[in-house]
Amino acid sequence: MNRNYNIAVIPGDGTGPEVVKESIKVLKAAAGRHNFGINFYEYDFGGERYMRTGETLPEGAIDELKKFDAILLGAIGHPDVKPGILEKGILLRLRFELDQYINLRPVKLYPGVKTPLKDKGPEHIDYVVIRENTGDVYTGSGGVTMKGTPHEVAIQNMIYNRMQVDRCLKYAFEYTRKRNRKKTLALCGKTNVLTYVFDLWERAFHEMGNTLYPDIKREYYHVDATCMWMVKNPEWFDVIVTTNMFGDIITDLGAITQGGMGIAAGGNINPEGVSMFEPIGGSAPKYTGKNVINPLAAIASGAMMLEHLGEENAANAIENAIIYVTTNKIKDLSAGKMGYSTTEVGDMVAEKV
Ligand code: IPM
Ligand code: MN
Repeated sequence: MNRNYNIAVIPGDGTGPEVVKESIKVLKAAAGRHNFGINFYEYDFGGERYMRTGETLPEGAIDELKKFDAILLGAIGHPDVKPGILEKGILLRLRFELDQYINLRPVKLYPGVKTPLKDKGPEHIDYVVIRENTGDVYTGSGGVTMKGTPHEVAIQNMIYNRMQVDRCLKYAFEYTRKRNRKKTLALCGKTNVLTYVFDLWERAFHEMGNTLYPDIKREYYHVDATCMWMVKNPEWFDVIVTTNMFGDIITDLGAITQGGMGIAAGGNINPEGVSMFEPIGGSAPKYTGKNVINPLAAIASGAMMLEHLGEENAANAIENAIIYVTTNKIKDLSAGKMGYSTTEVGDMVAEKV
């Protein structure tokens, strides 16, 4: 096995570069300790480049990125660029064109981290949301007519085909089996209203479960109820699989229950191609350049990347180092309240690794 990895890095906007720098620091420490090679190649895609050149992703960028073992992303979003341009032109384009059809978002409360959920601790909040990542209203299908008139019509379609649903469900069932905890996969949908799309999901879910995954228990929750239970009884969940838009929404809820944007990590995964790992939080313009933003989410994303590459021991070492820091050092995860600077947090994790 070739244990030398080439990683494309897109630090991006705002605090993205600061947190990515700490993630790289920790990844290098893990590589040294666990005897593998890791090389980083930086790309300047983001708001600054867009304002300079008018270009979101340059010609040939996608093909170039396909040659890497993985991509590490900081944050995309710039206060001086109209919302949607960078998100669609960079982040969503990468997800779609690299066919990263899974968005893996663990919701895990680390010891020492405060949660807004009353009477809940790390033993209650530990599950994974598998968000479908290339379909749904994100496909951009729809349009507008009679714009600006009282008759204006706006349409944005929720689109899924059987292939997209099946490949996402297969990943989710396999993931639940491999995770080997409660062996329970919950489908989160809205079968009582979205009767076409979630009929497809529900049938595919039970067909696949019955024939290929009899060892995995199946549950179903409406998305609105899912939000209630994520707050009231998060310990019920093991793995949740859901559509792109619902997954976007419930993972922000999940993130806040695990301590917020400073700690929530995610992976955009193409199991057969190149995957991209990113902290869920945004570019946080108001903290940019102050060395106060929390880099743990970016560091945890780096750990997810190593796990994906097959470096499980190194990934575990990073996770344990994060737990050491949340348990013994940082008292508050919020930017400016950590009691340590961004670089100091990176140093502490790297040292522990
Ligand atoms: C996320 C973000 C993106 C999404 C935005 C920035 C396009 O909210 O990664 O969850 O909606 O997927
Ligand atoms: Mn989101």
